Amino acid sequence: MEFDFVILDETESTNSEALKLAESTDNPTFIVAKKQTNGRGRIDRSWSDPSGNFSGSILIKIDEDLQNLALRSFVAALSVFDAIDQEIGEEHELLIKWPNDLLLNGKKICGILLETKNFGNVSALVIGIGVNLLSSPNLDQIKNITIKPGSIYSETGIKLDPIDFADLIAHNYALRENQLRTIGFSKIREIWMSRAAKIGKKITARTPNFEYHGIFDSVDEKGQLIIINNGEEKKIAAAEIFF
Ligand code: BTN
Repeated sequence: MEFDFVILDETESTNSEALKLAESTDNPTFIVAKKQTNGRGRIDRSWSDPSGNFSGSILIKIDEDLQNLALRSFVAALSVFDAIDQEIGEEHELLIKWPNDLLLNGKKICGILLETKNFGNVSALVIGIGVNLLSSPNLDQIKNITIKPGSIYSETGIKLDPIDFADLIAHNYALRENQLRTIGFSKIREIWMSRAAKIGKKITARTPNFEYHGIFDSVDEKGQLIIINNGEEKKIAAAEIFF
């Protein structure tokens, strides 16, 4: 998969730009903004992005059902993981928090937001990726905080250039997407689980209506979270995780 790159000095949201661009291109495209002024996060949150951090959205058109599109959440988390892992070395603990946050030394340094738009037979899938390369927001800027934020720079002392970093993510995303298309989700899932935080440990999954407590067992073939409580298995498609 070869990406066209669009580099913007400033925009409200690279996800919005990608959804707009989907009207006029079928090429896989990576839209990167040096500064984002109104970034969106999951569950109605905003994503604050001072300059120096990475904000980008991958746009791909895919002829697959929605459930399959959602697997890209795991593909994207692995490819950003790969990109960071290749830059920071072994002494730091890099883990994935279900489904697609990245934690470096226990602090959230990356969030991913998937959005889709239908064009008849094909869907435009937009994978928005925010990585705190240089700095992280103050705690009072974040709504419903689950994990303290950090940045790659604050945790490792390493400064990464956002545009070079886009190249690295694009390269790794193409490899992982190819792995999904040729082998299927099983391999992505296996690698994802080997890098996941809190497998086998107690977690809480909060949905708008319920709160489930239990042991984080695994992720199923659809990417759903499996929690076990008193021998009973619960599969959860969407929730916020606390631990
Ligand atoms: C989260 O809530 O953890 C997901 C955050 C996703 C933020 C990224 S930054 C680039 C892209 N554009 C947006 O408006 N949001 C995503």
